[in-house]
Order: sequence, then structure tokens, then C-alpha cells
Amino acid sequence: TRVLVLNGPNLGRLGAREPEVYGSASHDDLVAAVAGWAAELGLAAEVRRTDSESELVGWLHEAVDTRCDVVLNPAAFTHYSYALRDAAAQVTAAGLRLVEVHISNPYARETFRHVSVIGPIASGTVAGFGFDSYRLALSALSPPSSRSV
Ligand code: DQA
Repeated sequence: TRVLVLNGPNLGRLGAREPEVYGSASHDDLVAAVAGWAAELGLAAEVRRTDSESELVGWLHEAVDTRCDVVLNPAAFTHYSYALRDAAAQVTAAGLRLVEVHISNPYARETFRHVSVIGPIASGTVAGFGFDSYRLALSALSPPSSRSV
């Protein structure tokens, strides 16, 4: 089963960026961890990262068109991007699964992070477990099952 793992803005700065919040491991470390977990879970995961909203929207369209499940860390777009929400909604409306992930627990942080415009249209959300949030999201997508609601 193919899964697109999509990381939004500033996640390329992992390791250097607020290590007390996001840890000291880099985005390359995350890519390596995801590859290992995906192999264990029998998933073909492809990790992509961008600072661009339009690129993320395009990748979500691609997920619909190629029929693959998605693990999405929308980063700050989580909190205000209706364009990303509309694109993510097409994934779940197509009967594919989209798991929203966060490294930190946004609900334990500033109030502007308490709103997710993605959450209501996601299949589910995993937040607050560091890079393990991705492992938990991947395991939710394995074994494959079709989303019925
Ligand atoms: C984040 C949480 C967001 O609030 C923040 O803007 C990020 C990362 C996380 O993974 O914890 O960039 O999505």
C-alpha cells in the first residue's frame, strides 16, 4: 500500500528549530524513521516536504488521482489554511484515508494552535508523541482497509 507522507512549512528546520518543542532530530532523521516503520508495516511510504501551500495542495490532488492514503503534518497551515482543508477534504471524500499528525501537542500550546481546520475532514489525528506520531499514523493505515465513513 502506497502512502504519501506530507510535511508542511518549517519542518525542514527540524533539529535546529525550537528543539525543546520538536526535539533535536532532523527532517532527514524523520525520513529514515518513516522508511523503517513503513517497511515493518508493509507500506510503501514516500515522504515529501515543502514550505509551499500550493505544492501541498497539488500533492493532495495527486493522492486523490493516484488513490493513495495520506499522512499529513500541515504545520502552521493546520490552523488557518482553508485551501489545504478543501484539498484534504477531497482525499477523504474519495474514500481514501488522511491522518493529520503533529509532533507536538498543539492543544497544550498557544491558543492559536488549538484550532485545526484540517481535523474535521481528517480520518483521524495523532498529536503530541514526537516522531512517534508518524509511526502511530502509519500503523493506523496498516493493514489497508477501506474507509466507510
Ligand atoms: C506542528 C504544530 C504546528 O502548530 C506548528 O505550526 C508546526 C508543527 C507539529 O508537528 O507539532 O509547524 O504541526
